[in-house]
Amino acid sequence: MSPSTTTRLRRLRETNSLRSMVRETSLAVSHLIYPIFVTHGRDKREPVDPMPGSYHLSLDKLLDEVDEVAELGIPGVILFGLPARKDAVGSEAYDSGGIIQEAIRVIKKTIPNLMVITDVCLCQYTNHGHCGVISNGRIDNDATVELYAKTAVSHAEAGADMVAPSGMMDGQVAAIRDGLDDGGFGHLPIMAYAAKHASAFYGPFRVAADSAPQSGDRRSYQMDPANGRMALREIQADIDEGADIVMVKPALAYLDVIARARDRFDHPIAAYNVSGEYSLVKAAAANEWINEEQVTLELLTGIRRAGADMIITYHAKDAARWLQHA
Ligand code: PBG
Repeated sequence: MSPSTTTRLRRLRETNSLRSMVRETSLAVSHLIYPIFVTHGRDKREPVDPMPGSYHLSLDKLLDEVDEVAELGIPGVILFGLPARKDAVGSEAYDSGGIIQEAIRVIKKTIPNLMVITDVCLCQYTNHGHCGVISNGRIDNDATVELYAKTAVSHAEAGADMVAPSGMMDGQVAAIRDGLDDGGFGHLPIMAYAAKHASAFYGPFRVAADSAPQSGDRRSYQMDPANGRMALREIQADIDEGADIVMVKPALAYLDVIARARDRFDHPIAAYNVSGEYSLVKAAAANEWINEEQVTLELLTGIRRAGADMIITYHAKDAARWLQHA
């Protein structure tokens, strides 16, 4: 029997122009946000071992990096800091002279149009490596969100364009919204790490940010990777607390969560294509086991197809270059 001639899906695949006309998903540099690690000191550009292409940058070197990012047309960066000192309550996180606050000032002074997003959390700043403060052997949720609010306000005062709370404490978005509003930053949007799972894919980041918990793990605050419905409740909760953008994290093993969130919510959705996802691609590419450009663009397109409006990704600079000649 010859195949049906009424439906021949291949008709629309014959030429490049036709394929591009019926393409459902776009991937553009405007969708990308680039994560950067900043550190104290001078003249430092230290490679992060498990994340080829990522560096610990001192503020002088940060300028070259953000110049390049802006030159490539990437609209924004998200900053992570390595503090000079860690303590039990993560003091440098909300110190007006902290590494992130300094980095924000440096970037906004030189490239005011580059959007600076800040990660609001304590884990890089605490000596125990947890995302919150500890009292009586437990994470003290409500004391922690007060420190998040302080941190967000100090970022806003330094000139941040958006804050992104990542600690997965209950009520963190509401506390930050209150803090920002009281501090005169009612205009500042919040990108909430809403559905953040307790993922082994954060491993390379914890090397980069020196933020692994010294004991235990993050499963009492980050979500169980098995839970999709609860992810939607987390997103709903953050929306109710005033989040402007909601995030799903990680991205690749959680595309179903992104797709369900897209169906249910009208808020802009961010996906965090995390460190371990990046490292896998980089390692395979270094071995010449895959075509890095094609694989990366396919993965980023998949995240967009699932429903993400924007993607935080360590691939952003490479992807921007590839998209220029695509
Ligand atoms: C801080 C934070 C983490 C990441 C982003 N913000 C680490 C963690 O939760 O342990 C992970 C990012 C990545 O893996 O790329 N809470």
